[in-house]
Amino acid sequence: MDKSYKNVYITTPIYYVNDVAHIGHAYTTIIADMLARYSRLTGLDTYFLTGTDEHGQKIEQSAKQRGRTPQEYADEISGKFRTLWDDFDISYDKFIRTTDEEHKIGVQKAFETMYNKGDIYKGDYEGFYCVSCETFFTEKQLVDEQFCPDCGKPTNIVKEESFFFKLSKYEDKLIKWYEENEDCILPRSKKNEIVNFVKGGLKDLSISRTSFDWGVKLPESINEPKHVMYVWLDALLNYITALGYGNKEENMNYWPAKVQLVGKDILRFHAIYWPAFLMSLDLPLPTHIAAHGWWTRDGEKMSKSKGNVVNPKEVADAYGLDAFRYFMLREVPFGQDGDFSQKALMDRINSDLGNDLGNLLNRISGMSGKYFDFKVNSVDVEKFHKKELDEVNEILENVESYIFNMQLNRYLEDIWKVLTIANKAIGDYEPWAKMKEGKTEEAMALVALITNIMAKVALLLDSVMPEKISKIADSLGIEINTDTYNKLIVNKELLDETTITKVEQLFPRIEEVLLEQASTADVSKAEPEEKAKAKIDQKKENDEESDNLITIDQFFETTLKVGTIIEAEEVPKSKKLLKLQVDLGEGKNRQILAGIKEFYDAKDLVGTQACVVANLKPAKLMGMLSEGMLMAARDENGLSLIRPETPKKSGTKIS
Ligand code: MSP
Repeated sequence: MDKSYKNVYITTPIYYVNDVAHIGHAYTTIIADMLARYSRLTGLDTYFLTGTDEHGQKIEQSAKQRGRTPQEYADEISGKFRTLWDDFDISYDKFIRTTDEEHKIGVQKAFETMYNKGDIYKGDYEGFYCVSCETFFTEKQLVDEQFCPDCGKPTNIVKEESFFFKLSKYEDKLIKWYEENEDCILPRSKKNEIVNFVKGGLKDLSISRTSFDWGVKLPESINEPKHVMYVWLDALLNYITALGYGNKEENMNYWPAKVQLVGKDILRFHAIYWPAFLMSLDLPLPTHIAAHGWWTRDGEKMSKSKGNVVNPKEVADAYGLDAFRYFMLREVPFGQDGDFSQKALMDRINSDLGNDLGNLLNRISGMSGKYFDFKVNSVDVEKFHKKELDEVNEILENVESYIFNMQLNRYLEDIWKVLTIANKAIGDYEPWAKMKEGKTEEAMALVALITNIMAKVALLLDSVMPEKISKIADSLGIEINTDTYNKLIVNKELLDETTITKVEQLFPRIEEVLLEQASTADVSKAEPEEKAKAKIDQKKENDEESDNLITIDQFFETTLKVGTIIEAEEVPKSKKLLKLQVDLGEGKNRQILAGIKEFYDAKDLVGTQACVVANLKPAKLMGMLSEGMLMAARDENGLSLIRPETPKKSGTKIS
């Protein structure tokens, strides 16, 4: 192992508290946990950070919708994340919340430092803001002049006084960093996207807001009480405030981070803004920013509205936490998207875990028990199995290099190659035949070879499946610790004499999916679609997240009316927009811009009716005012406007 560094700091993104944890959050956290456990086992001083991101307009809005204060709401959801990670035995050293006092002090200190350096100035921001992604966009970046290019939701027009960070100043320095540090962003394909983006030119970044309150105030020395910090500045700084930055600095010796894990959707913030902020603070940059792909379900993005979100706790409870961890780490090459299905998980459990790993352990206890009263010694392994030992050591020598390069599935694939060598050796050397022939030494050498391979594998899999590996270790009579790691892995030594204990089947075979399909939204092909859909609907009704339901009063906050389309024309230069004059019975028509050009000819719409959201704040699209929104439904066959079944008077209320 490369010991050129002493301290290893691993971070996950901090999770927004507007949603409960799903498989995507679990994925990031499990990867980080694996790295941290591995690093600790090798003897490195390791610090592992996770936590929750609690400020910003999105959280403020979510809390309001539920009639709660942002703090109450954040407390509840943050608590749920923490409980889940505790249930999952995630070995974090610190769980940070951006509402922690120490964090806020650190963030203000950082702001002040950047300001004093001349990297922050005051100006006016005018542009578009996606509350869901908490991201600013220029008009050019929007999709169809209105929608967020990342999540597809409508953006808001923002015009307010703001402080700006001189991101443009760091363009060349960032490019130099990318060039000089080949693996600073992993995987490399993702790095190329970032480098190209930065080479395209960086604009200064708006880093304060005045239109809402739920955020860290600017430092008092700046005397701008109206401003709160942009949530991404606040959030990114958690990685250093967690170590005491701007405060007691008690753990700053862990900085810079070894690996900062993120999902691909938030790589831009971490690979551009974050290093620029660090440069401004004169702090060193992380070794790796590693972006993983997204988990989908049946090839579809998971979302609450589709009811297809995979609940990690349910999956772990049904199939076992360690199996779930193994599946997530093995199934998809880091950086690529993965698709969750119970079938794929079952296959991994039955084949990799049950057959290759679990059965091998049973064979060790079976053979050692039958022939040697459970006592195994390694004295003759070198003599009879040098070839196998060399093969195993050669593979294991290289697996370590995969870890911090985030080639975690290759790490596991190679460990499975080693298990194959062990399983194959049993068939090749037939210890039962050796015993019959009286070649006891050879039979013992074979059993000891397998036991040693299992012990080495156990050490390397401890970070992946800590609970099951502790059972394997008990069975082999070994301890999983740095000393054993150094002896068996680093120094390639063999076990001293050991006594095997019988254990129960570690990964019993699973014949049928264990979860109601709807609850993981894994609709099996065998199941009639209708039945599955009914289950999903039922699940939605029963969903314990009933706090997503709205009251009738909340529903009536939206005014829906029947509108008659009086005029319709195409908006020049727009692929999507039609400009409509709609009569809502108000004496004066409303101008509404609707993104339906691909589906309707303007002339066919005149005289027809549609349901209109009538109390929407007017917005400008392509410089034109839009005073409402037509309701429509869209699926793979196209889009249809929602209309009354029989004509109704213009302006009739819909309820
Ligand atoms: N709060 C920000 C991060 C700030 S870090 C300074 C945030 N939070 S999040 O809760 O929305 O997302 C956290 C992580 O979960 C991201 O890395 C994101 O990529 C990951 N995932 C969310 N959905 C996912 C999948 N469906 N699949 C895999 N990971 C996904 O962004």
